[in-house]
Amino acid sequence: MTNLPQDALEKAPETITGDPVADDFQTLHEIVAAAHRALDRNMWDYVAGATETETTMRRNRLALDRIAFRPRVLNDVSRIDSGAEFLGKSVRLPIALAPVGGLESLGHEGGLTVARAAGQAGVPFFLSSVNQLGLERVAAAATGFKVFQLYVRGGDDFVDDHVRRAIDAGYDAFCITVDSAIYSRRERDIANRFAKPWRGATPGMQYQAGLTWDQVRRMRKRCTVPMMLKGIATAEDAELCCREGIDVVYVSNHGGRQLDHGLGSLDVLPEVVQAVAGRAKIMVDGGVSRGTDVVKAIALGADAVGIGRLYCYGLAAAGIAGIVRVIELLELEVRECLGLLGLASFAGLDASYVRKAEPVTDPRVHSAFPLLSLPKQHY
Ligand code: FNR
Repeated sequence: MTNLPQDALEKAPETITGDPVADDFQTLHEIVAAAHRALDRNMWDYVAGATETETTMRRNRLALDRIAFRPRVLNDVSRIDSGAEFLGKSVRLPIALAPVGGLESLGHEGGLTVARAAGQAGVPFFLSSVNQLGLERVAAAATGFKVFQLYVRGGDDFVDDHVRRAIDAGYDAFCITVDSAIYSRRERDIANRFAKPWRGATPGMQYQAGLTWDQVRRMRKRCTVPMMLKGIATAEDAELCCREGIDVVYVSNHGGRQLDHGLGSLDVLPEVVQAVAGRAKIMVDGGVSRGTDVVKAIALGADAVGIGRLYCYGLAAAGIAGIVRVIELLELEVRECLGLLGLASFAGLDASYVRKAEPVTDPRVHSAFPLLSLPKQHY
């Protein structure tokens, strides 16, 4: 901290942190802009892009934008606690860093840095099986809650080996992504002729395509840590998750990167919450870019919210400090939102604090950041 008088602190707290990263990045859009400067076209489009028409991705934002708040006043919010619990552990915010493949190509040692940053920031992180570092090496760098996410690329032996290794390495939970039976056509990558260095010939894709609930049942029996299914998008599949003893039903459309013309995640959330009826925890992701987005998702019944692109931008912009700053800024926004809703914590936040309203923004991948200025084709 610099030695500024107290009244200066009160006037402009954001400008005088004395921390160069915090001073450079006083808003989330400044981090996105820095990531845009740091990444080449291929990697920018890989992260920002989605499938074909990118309709699902835009609906993620639309679903969030369609929710308005119903604030209550005259409640004591002089002390706000934005902490939460995630599978029995205390976390700084009900936020997790979602699994992202190919992180190494964003620089700063990819998944190793994400693992360290998550620990420092006090939020859980997921390691994608699409990583070149190895699940053991990343686990060793992690200090907080960690989840291993698997794409099934082999038979039962492959799955059992990954379950065992993840548990031996100390992962707190195991996640199977189930919205990726087919690898979708991401047209930004195709148009760029971008050969993803981590994809190779992607051997074993047919195993993911052949995955069924029978195999989930088998995995559930072998997995001694909480198990999550990521990519649930209907009440029907949420019901099946509960019947199979899945601990976390993870509502996701992969950030709009798999099935095009799906619903926005927040539009799916209510039917899943209703179907699950308290039998499992619920996570949701897709388009979450602001503290208000986090609060909306929790109000509608999620236990935790995943962020994908946003922390990738933090990583690309400034490595560990960039990711930590993303979490700090989200925390500031969450606390501001809770306080202005008349809530001193997430306890008591429910669907009565939100209602449907007309969106006022054309939904795009970065439409939550109206001050962001990028070339048109990079939006
Ligand atoms: C992803 N996502 C993803 N999901 C998964 O289960 N395994 C993976 O390897 C990846 N890889 C991946 C790469 C990139 C660059 C992105 C942007 C996303 C999906 C991710 O976990 C999450 O569902 C979405 O990113 C959430 O949407 P937002 O927050 O990016 O809008």
